[in-house]
Amino acid sequence: MIDLYRCGGRRAAFALDPELAHGLTLKAIRTGLLPGARNAGDKSLQTTVASLAFKNPLGVAAGLDKNGEALDGLLKLGFGHTEAGTVTPRPQPGNPKPRLFRLVKDEAVINRMGFNNDGHDALAARLERRRGPGVIGVNIGANKTSEDRIADYVAGIARFSGLADYLTVNISSPNTPGLRDLQARVELARLLGRVAEAREKAARKVPVFLKIAPDLTEEGVDDIVAEVLDSALDGVIVSNTTLSRAGLREEKLAGEAGGLSGAPLFERSTALLARMRQRLGPDLALIGVGGVNSGARAVEKIRAGADLVQIYSGMTYEGPQLIEDSLTAMVAAMREAGVSAPRQLRDSGVAEWAAKPFTG
Ligand code: FNR
Repeated sequence: MIDLYRCGGRRAAFALDPELAHGLTLKAIRTGLLPGARNAGDKSLQTTVASLAFKNPLGVAAGLDKNGEALDGLLKLGFGHTEAGTVTPRPQPGNPKPRLFRLVKDEAVINRMGFNNDGHDALAARLERRRGPGVIGVNIGANKTSEDRIADYVAGIARFSGLADYLTVNISSPNTPGLRDLQARVELARLLGRVAEAREKAARKVPVFLKIAPDLTEEGVDDIVAEVLDSALDGVIVSNTTLSRAGLREEKLAGEAGGLSGAPLFERSTALLARMRQRLGPDLALIGVGGVNSGARAVEKIRAGADLVQIYSGMTYEGPQLIEDSLTAMVAAMREAGVSAPRQLRDSGVAEWAAKPFTG
């Protein structure tokens, strides 16, 4: 496949305002006409995680298709799963623009979108209309003006249990004031208790994952580990964007408020992922996300303990070729290690990654 994105497409996209470019890209993906990764259906990449069958371990991170407008188009590009959302019960406009910034020299993005989305009803209607293959997750959140945030998550579980293959409880966006406070032990226990109740009551019981921030202290990690182990959760997504601005070259844009994603997030999010694998044991599902911009980095997430790998910012810089590159690298790494499934590649780098710092 000629890599049209790296040969000019990126330059055209980068000439546009980032949010406009993102909207146009989604429209193009939605047509389903873009060529898909040739190796997406390689049988050796199939994997079962939290009782769900994935054709390969690579997926789309939440936020790229918040309203579920391009789900089938994204799957056609070669992803094994895609995660819609974050969706909140009521539609909301998000923060004033500009709220999305490219830090080109750093291969990074800063966003303070603030959960702009069409709300539960609109996403539910889109999910009801589609019938294609592939795993679809729905990432749920709370409205900015909600008086009872936990009730918003409960509503999300009730609404999407019959429509999604899995649900993600997102308490890690830095752009809704106070949302990350739900990661503190007492609040998290209350939230997870109510989420478990809602799941029991739902007509269909689907796996539920928790998405966490990378900006945690050692005590913060202890709290999350204790509550996750005490809960009915099926897995953890590590991680959302960071508030850290360490080591950035684009000094002017680095001052923009919001969450940082892309290449500079890789080390921190991968170290935390490995730490979580060590602490949570082999059975909980872990999804590694943060800074994957090459096949080698996709493989490294699996070595650091991930069952599945998600990408967002890397697609902005590398385009859809990153999908094929990631899958090729996974197949090559399995061959090199003499193993026949992604699960067998998992954890070989946990000790090394878990020894690295994830704070600072
Ligand atoms: C995000 N991310 C995100 N995460 C989430 O759980 N809900 C959301 O609505 C969003 N929205 C969002 C918007 C934009 C513009 C970006 C760049 C990111 C976070 C995303 O899913 C992922 O966790 C991080 O971006 C880290 O991965 P990458 O981008 O480094 O591959």
